[in-house]
Amino acid sequence: MFKSKARREAKQLIERSFVEYKGRPVGTPAALVPVEDENLNYNQVFTRDFFVTGLYFLLKGRTDIVENFLVTVAGLQNIEKSRDCFDAGQGLMPASFKVDRDAEREELKADFGEQAIGRVTPVDSGLWWVYLLRIHLRATGDESIIRKEERRSALRSVLDPYLSGYFELVPTLLVPDGAFMIDRRMGMYGHPLDIQVLFFIALRSAAEVLELDDSPDSEDYRKRIRHRLEHLYFHLENYYWLDLKRLNDIYRYKTEEFGVDIRNKYNIYSGSIPGWAMEFLDEQGGYYVGNLGPGRMDFRFLSSGNLLAVLGGLAGDEKVERLQNLISKNREKLVGRMPMKICYPALEKSRWEIVTGYDPKNAAWSYHNGGNWPFVAWMLAAVSEKCGGDLLGADQMEKVSERLRGNDWPEYYDGKDGALVGKEARLKQLWTITGSMAACEILEHPETLSLFCFDWEDTSLSCPNNRV
Ligand code: GLC
Repeated sequence: MFKSKARREAKQLIERSFVEYKGRPVGTPAALVPVEDENLNYNQVFTRDFFVTGLYFLLKGRTDIVENFLVTVAGLQNIEKSRDCFDAGQGLMPASFKVDRDAEREELKADFGEQAIGRVTPVDSGLWWVYLLRIHLRATGDESIIRKEERRSALRSVLDPYLSGYFELVPTLLVPDGAFMIDRRMGMYGHPLDIQVLFFIALRSAAEVLELDDSPDSEDYRKRIRHRLEHLYFHLENYYWLDLKRLNDIYRYKTEEFGVDIRNKYNIYSGSIPGWAMEFLDEQGGYYVGNLGPGRMDFRFLSSGNLLAVLGGLAGDEKVERLQNLISKNREKLVGRMPMKICYPALEKSRWEIVTGYDPKNAAWSYHNGGNWPFVAWMLAAVSEKCGGDLLGADQMEKVSERLRGNDWPEYYDGKDGALVGKEARLKQLWTITGSMAACEILEHPETLSLFCFDWEDTSLSCPNNRV
């Protein structure tokens, strides 16, 4: 199984991709770009992209490059930032970094978003870093990694800003537009699901890592994490989850209610329920909605948030089953010819104009706006294996990999069912290569799930304020 041409080619490309610093591999670039493209930042090591590649390495038992990456990125927190990075606090981890070198010296240069298109802030970077730290720890069993001072303080400086309260009433993280994988204006500001679920996983990862840390403040961090997790769990469980019953409740909600014991806490108007949501859901389906804020429920389906909700143990058995049913029922729409859309459905016409600000790269059914991203295959494969379901089979993944190889490993696909190679897709995109190879690996060796999955835990039970 999987001894295909695609697998052989992927292996060769991965071997060619290492970025070295001081003689050691510290990451891989976003894409193996031709020299004429080097003014774009695809030749940099992206934190979120390298998470996927790092996971692939750990699944294959290659730990050194992941360790070097974790140490390198942690060290970059203290690097001097440029003018356009106003007072970014410690704890923000870079979107990407590169190694500048000439004959005499090598230097690490990081981008915290102050050079990125649209100056977007990478709120997800630190969260992926913590998740990868946990997986590395599980893969190596090397507890000494967390006893090293610089790793200890890096973990704390990530946790500090994410655990702070600021002015929020809710336990979810408040972020600006483009703060994660969808790093362009797409109406993902506020409390987008992908960030919240990743936050949930990062907190669980940190709690696990801190169990091994006997510093005096470790217990205090674990308490704060536990507290936040309980509230976060309750919030996502009760306000983001949508099935037909809840949709019906929302449809019949009263609005403009005031006080504590009300039903329509976020003042959602039933007129905002989009027509497609009624077809998307049936009696057996359910999913976590894309975003929630005052008077605003964004009904769009975000794949990463929903799939990670299963892997991170946020969704209990019933929800997992409903999510599986929903993906199966809407397979053509969500998976189509290339696993999988990151956001469904696309914003079209005036909604595209207003929400994206006329962004041609995010035209309807392209790129972030309804395009299909092969790197998501690892999550779909893992959910499929975790649930004993058949969302993605080994034979299907084999065909997917061959198509990717034939198209030179594009970054994304366009069209309602992912039939077209993305209009501006980079080729030899690393997380396409490693995400699809990780999917093959997971399908072949389901025992690897324990490295990156969490069991479901009813975190709300111990949360007294949350009883409804
Ligand atoms: C694009 C994607 C972003 C990714 C980067 C590098 O900007 O939107 O999520 O990290 O490319 O691949």
